[in-house]
Amino acid sequence: MTGSPPLSGATGGVALVASGSARGTQQISNSQLGQRVDTSDEWIRTRTGIGNRCICGPDQSLADLSHQAGTQALSMAGWDADSLDLVLLATSTPDDLFGTAPKVQALLGARNAVAFDLTAACSGFLFALVTAAQFLRTGAMRRVLVIGADQLSRWVDWDDRRTCVLFGDGAGAVALEATSADRDGLVGFALRSDGARGNCLNLAQHNERQTLVDSASHQVGGYQPISMNGQEVYKFAVREVPAILKQLLEATDTAPESLDWLLLHQANQRILDAVADRFNLPHAKVLSNLAHYGNTSAATIPLMLDEAVRDGRIQPGHRIASSGFGAGLSWGAALFHWQGPS
Ligand code: COA
Repeated sequence: MTGSPPLSGATGGVALVASGSARGTQQISNSQLGQRVDTSDEWIRTRTGIGNRCICGPDQSLADLSHQAGTQALSMAGWDADSLDLVLLATSTPDDLFGTAPKVQALLGARNAVAFDLTAACSGFLFALVTAAQFLRTGAMRRVLVIGADQLSRWVDWDDRRTCVLFGDGAGAVALEATSADRDGLVGFALRSDGARGNCLNLAQHNERQTLVDSASHQVGGYQPISMNGQEVYKFAVREVPAILKQLLEATDTAPESLDWLLLHQANQRILDAVADRFNLPHAKVLSNLAHYGNTSAATIPLMLDEAVRDGRIQPGHRIASSGFGAGLSWGAALFHWQGPS
């Protein structure tokens, strides 16, 4: 699915006006993880760029993280929660399998908003951003809060050194507003899925069969911890992310050197560097906070965005190319301008 130019029939545009973020309250360093599994700070930093991760405490939920990030974004935008039309929560780790967005809506006091979850693993925020933009461009909605949040610490096998060193908990939020087509901040996007390759990264259900009545049985079970073929996922990322970004930049007639920032899903510093090298972009233009947070799945892109907005690196009018990728397999790219609050 490629969205540049936007859907036919669309009349308006979308402005990215504010951001917020939250992290798990407990910081765990690589050396501390070495107390639990056979690993080292040197191994983790060299292979991934990760130094610390933030993990939710026993009393912190996904709804709490999302609420905190969303509140910050509303505050930056200067909006009342009442004015929101939609709270869209990208997550693969809901507090409730029926959906956590309505809980977040209630915590925010966004009484007039519809709220629902969207699941696309580490591509979730990007997919949610594009989804929300459609409601805004068609004029169906005026104000939307898109939140990417994940609490993967619930689903990591903390005794599996191949995966446990990679992940952390966090949330990021972006406030989006309808605007005129000539001020559209979402220049273009492209989204992809390939379920045929999905088994290299899973958080799958494992069921047993139990007899229900004489002639019927049912399934009982639960979810198993994350399982991953790291090398396959790495190869997927360094092949597909540059390809989809190239396609997007060509479709939008954008020269790589005209980008202010490359904002990629924060999975591995080596992936970030490889993508930057493919476009001859200086590494200084590649936003990275992996060292502090690790991979927070759907949260990485808005969490990084918020950090760079708040410390002044991202300025109004900056042109940002973003790409999310991960389980599904799913991947996507978006080219947008940061507007900031008016
Ligand atoms: N500490 C120390 N040693 C470790 C380790 C750890 N945390 N994890 C794995 N190893 C060991 C392995 O057991 C293996 O040892 P062996 O050769 O004795 O069998 C060795 O290191 C190499 O393992 P390998 O899996 O080949 O490492 P790698 O170079 O592929 O790096 C990843 C592993 C996970 C860092 C890398 O594959 C990667 O980043 N993949 C992408 C993962 C990702 O981003 N997932 C999320 C996508 S959204």
